[in-house]
Amino acid sequence: MNKGILRRKLEEVVRADKHRFHMPGHKGRMHWPVSGEKDVTELPGLDNLHRPSGTLAASQSRVAAIYQVARSFFLVNGSSVGIMAAMATALAPGEKVLIERTCHKAVISGLVHSGAMPVFVEQEFCQDRQAWLPPTVQAVKDGLAAQGIKAAVFTNPCYMGLVPDMDSIAGLCRKAAVPLIVDEAHGAHLKFGRKVGLPPSAIDAGADIVVQSPHKTLNAMTQAAWAHVLTPDLAEEFQRNLNTFHTTSPSYILLASLEQAALEVEAWGEVSLNRLAKLSRLLRNSLSRVGLRPWDSRGTDWTKVVFRQPLGAKRYLQGKGIYHEAVFHGNMLFMLTMSDAWDCSSLRFLIGQLPGLAKLPPVVRKPLHVPPLPEVEHAPRDVWKREGTKVAIAKAGGRIARQIVAPYPPGTMVVVPGQKISGELSDYLVWLHSRGVIPDWIEVL
Ligand SMILES: Cc1ncc(COP(=O)(O)O)c(C=O)c1O
Repeated sequence: MNKGILRRKLEEVVRADKHRFHMPGHKGRMHWPVSGEKDVTELPGLDNLHRPSGTLAASQSRVAAIYQVARSFFLVNGSSVGIMAAMATALAPGEKVLIERTCHKAVISGLVHSGAMPVFVEQEFCQDRQAWLPPTVQAVKDGLAAQGIKAAVFTNPCYMGLVPDMDSIAGLCRKAAVPLIVDEAHGAHLKFGRKVGLPPSAIDAGADIVVQSPHKTLNAMTQAAWAHVLTPDLAEEFQRNLNTFHTTSPSYILLASLEQAALEVEAWGEVSLNRLAKLSRLLRNSLSRVGLRPWDSRGTDWTKVVFRQPLGAKRYLQGKGIYHEAVFHGNMLFMLTMSDAWDCSSLRFLIGQLPGLAKLPPVVRKPLHVPPLPEVEHAPRDVWKREGTKVAIAKAGGRIARQIVAPYPPGTMVVVPGQKISGELSDYLVWLHSRGVIPDWIEVL
């Protein structure tokens, strides 16, 4: 039989992608064999993901013990499903939730499903890095002072490795008796990296629900994720909500990979991150030496290495079999994981190519005019079901958005349904379109 289009393409891309600086965290080097015969779902002797009481319950409890949390829940549709279930757990329709303007699109999906109303926390846009900075403690404090906030959702770390002051934010939420949900999709490794200067996990900061994607930073299969519920009172309601999102045919390959990833990080996490810290430093120093200015890693998740990409960087690197994670506002992101700590051949190869990369012409950057904080006039769920019309983004000023705009990767929110589109936002959308990341129309009411 002929190979299908997708299978052929997949084989072609995987052949070309020799040096991986992107997700998944295992970088193609899973430590246990995955085969078709293990691709089963809830067989007798296995367990029910919607009501675990046997092997799955024991496996989830093992992970909870490793992360020192009350309960852990396995997820087979990424952190996205955990974030949506967490928001549906903590929020009722019409209730207000404090969120970042740069939240992931799963948080917006959480607004649609829960019916909650967003209250956005302001963030600074750093023109030097051309990146949004995490919200400050003061901005969170101001946000929590708004009437009737029923929950808060923050990200730790962001896609580019920047972190908010999680300890202080968790303290503020506790004081205000506001449940704190943390999107720690990129932070499943943080708990094991305190000795080598990684920022704290929201688990140790004392959040209520922490959602992580071990497929991004540990050795789990793509889509495999988990949610830690630290406040036991929320656990049953979380399971109930999760069951409305999850498939009834979960892959046991994904589920088993979760427990394996947890066992590995428990056994080897600290020593691997110790090795990785040195390699991350080596890569940053090598970038600096050839003039490719990496971001300052102090206080950040240094497993993410970001630098200003020169013109044609992607073509140059891919021509040598080096695949990066993403390019975001002209910044190139390489993801290092514990897998690189034990096999650093790709990293050494990359370092060898940096002098050639540095010879490419630099990109001239202009200051970016970012739109003001979103003004939301209707709850996202209310507009979701209403009929919309498509208008050109250049002419969308003054209209109410009906759709989510969150260019992927990484799915950072730009427009939330129910938001009034300002003139500045319309200009920003035109700019995003000129970069090829969104279409030239938007659905409005
Ligand atoms: C900050 C952030 N949160 C959440 C997610 C969603 O995670 P997943 O892909 O595991 O559903 C992503 C995905 O890239 C992300 O970057």
